[in-house]
Amino acid sequence: MRCSFAYQPGLFTETTDIASTHVRFSGRSGAFTDNMSLPVHRWYRYSAGFSADWVRWLVRERCSDTSTFSVLDPFAGVGTTLLACEAEQVRSWGFETHPFIHRIALAKLRGIHADIASVRDTLRQFVTGLPDEGLAVKREAPSLLARCYSPESLSLLLGMRDHYLAQFDRGTPETELLWLVLTSILRTCSEAGTAQWQYILPNKSKSTVQSPLAAFQAKAVSILQDVEWAQRNSWAAKGSMIPADARAPRECGEVHVDAVVTSPPYPNNYDYADATRLEMTFWGEINGWGDLQDAVRRHLVRSCSQHASAERLVLEDVLAEQVLEPIRHDLSAACSRLAEIRETKGGRKNYHTMAAAYFRDLGLVFRALRPLCRPNAFLCFVIGDSAPYGVHLDADRWLGELALAAGFKSYSFEKIRDRNVKWKNRKHRVPLKEGRLWIEG
Ligand SMILES: C[S@@+](CC[C@H](N)C(=O)[O-])C[C@H]1O[C@@H](n2cnc3c(N)ncnc32)[C@H](O)[C@@H]1O
Repeated sequence: MRCSFAYQPGLFTETTDIASTHVRFSGRSGAFTDNMSLPVHRWYRYSAGFSADWVRWLVRERCSDTSTFSVLDPFAGVGTTLLACEAEQVRSWGFETHPFIHRIALAKLRGIHADIASVRDTLRQFVTGLPDEGLAVKREAPSLLARCYSPESLSLLLGMRDHYLAQFDRGTPETELLWLVLTSILRTCSEAGTAQWQYILPNKSKSTVQSPLAAFQAKAVSILQDVEWAQRNSWAAKGSMIPADARAPRECGEVHVDAVVTSPPYPNNYDYADATRLEMTFWGEINGWGDLQDAVRRHLVRSCSQHASAERLVLEDVLAEQVLEPIRHDLSAACSRLAEIRETKGGRKNYHTMAAAYFRDLGLVFRALRPLCRPNAFLCFVIGDSAPYGVHLDADRWLGELALAAGFKSYSFEKIRDRNVKWKNRKHRVPLKEGRLWIEG
């Protein structure tokens, strides 16, 4: 059955009486910005995320029995789907291979069930134990950090980080919430601007910058209030994050679901590894951009040209893979065109191998999902197409065909919105779209 959507952003805020909410079609696409007004979801801004309201709406539409219904998000990001399922009392699982993003999702998922008094104590102990003299010490810092913060802010932040690492890095729900507070204030305290997506632009300055201690206090209070709110609203503890690769998931023996609700990376050259470069540099997990391939990118679906370049992929080898058989003809034509155009461009981006590897990876994802889905399960993939160098990659049709080849029964595409219509600096005029790929079976 195909579903038409009728969710309204802001449905599930603190003041909303969920039971009495009248839901009607709004036509708006779900975006993570909608989540920034929602308790818990607002703790960390992840531009790649989708709307939690929409997931809740969908679960309510399709779930007849919360005691048996279950949901999987194989690209779980910061846990939007799983948290929406907690709110709806539904069992859920999430896969996520970006280690830093996985930790954020887990911190949220466990944090909402933490003991409130212990969370409050941990936050208070952290602040009262901050060593005055330690905060003023000048520390060696990677150049990205030095470019993003004033010297005073940087000393304070690094002092807070070192205090956390020395005394609080214990992996409990309370200390992971504390880690999340520190992580989520890094952008608000930075003087550097950020792009529409999450890249940090150290050469562009911001008008409003918070001081680290004020930002910490505000975030800590907000998180504490949200934990109380989630508990007051009886959010369930039925979600499990697994650090599994959606292409070949392991340790998922108990996963059998009625629904897959997800948004995979798009083939649009967005670099998920780079999206957390500032935060991972701050925590000392990487020293710079060059470390991202090993630390993060190699675990992910190949959706950016940097990834394809690092792996030195050979186009013919990728295209020869059996999983691409249903779309090989059209995909090969697009990749050959990309390989030709590349020779005429200064940047010589590896979009040709990226495109081939992307659809190969998503083909494996559909194969992996088939045994995890119950016979009448449905899948909803929020997807977008792209046109690197102006060559259209027909994501909805190609992904639909890969799903059929993996053993699902049918697919249809529901467009949410047009893309590439208003950017002044767009590089090509190919009309693009974003929407929901519905797969039944
Ligand atoms: C579009 S985002 C999903 C965001 C999510 N809907 C949310 O609201 O937070 C896609 C996610 O897929 C993750 N990812 C990429 N390759 C993966 C893989 N092979 N297995 C699991 N997750 C992967 C990325 O790290 C990214 O967080």
